[in-house]
Amino acid sequence: MKVITKLLDLQRTIQQEKTSGASIGFVPTMGYLHEGHLTLVEEAGKNNDTVVMSIFVNPLQFGPNEDFDRYPRDVQRDTELAKDVGVDILFIPEVEEMYKGTQSVTLSVTERVEVLCGRKREGHFDGVVTVLTKLFHLIQPTRAYFGLKDAQQIAVVEGLVSDYFFPVEIVRVPTVREEDGLAKSSRNVYLSVEERREAPTLYQSLAEAKISIEDGERNPDAIISMISENIQENTSGKIDYVEVYTYPELAELTSLHGEIIIALAVQFQQARLIDNIIISVEPEEDLKCLER
Ligand code: PAF
Repeated sequence: MKVITKLLDLQRTIQQEKTSGASIGFVPTMGYLHEGHLTLVEEAGKNNDTVVMSIFVNPLQFGPNEDFDRYPRDVQRDTELAKDVGVDILFIPEVEEMYKGTQSVTLSVTERVEVLCGRKREGHFDGVVTVLTKLFHLIQPTRAYFGLKDAQQIAVVEGLVSDYFFPVEIVRVPTVREEDGLAKSSRNVYLSVEERREAPTLYQSLAEAKISIEDGERNPDAIISMISENIQENTSGKIDYVEVYTYPELAELTSLHGEIIIALAVQFQQARLIDNIIISVEPEEDLKCLER
């Protein structure tokens, strides 16, 4: 595995890959790798000649009161994990390398952003699309791999790629979960023992909502109430949101039908956890739904 920290080295290496006709699978990360990231690499390895991973804690996507400074970092451990799982090129730039001086052009997301985490984290997705635009230009991936745990991020990135004709296929990879259903996340390390015990309720409440839809419930408010009550009764976390939209457009619904996302965010003492399910809801006469 080649470890690269400088843009110029990366550009030279990518040029060689492109000249040799290699397809490139790209896994962008902020490090502190867990099984979710490693699954993205495995998926990328199945369909591409070369797998590139980036590790960059992107300051632009953190708000002033968010956890940029204390976001968990362990580059040495990440480098070993990346090598073991089959990354070919690991790009770990410094902030100064990615953001040289003042930016003279800024990117701003206008759709799919006024809901879910976008509404709560002002400017977050502007930071995400900015860094991904830079990384896509540098790495020129054939395919880029994103976990569905951050489903809004995927919706926004698909918008970016479609609007600006990036020649990259965005691959949606299902959320990797602990045995008890908790979605894997770098932030899970911040949960206290008691909170960790409570946290599987998040996914359980989504799974119960899915069963209720399969049984015929089509009222989004009823689904939201059901999930909220479950979380309030069984966790000490504070609900940030429980919302239901079409996916990937993230438009509001008065009755559940078609491809929908049920998403939630819960603030625990030191960790804000998010989770979601995306299901395909058949018309009311055929009461089945398929989880993606
Ligand atoms: O999902 C993440 O870890 C980040 O938002 C990403 C895509 C690496 C951009 O910084």
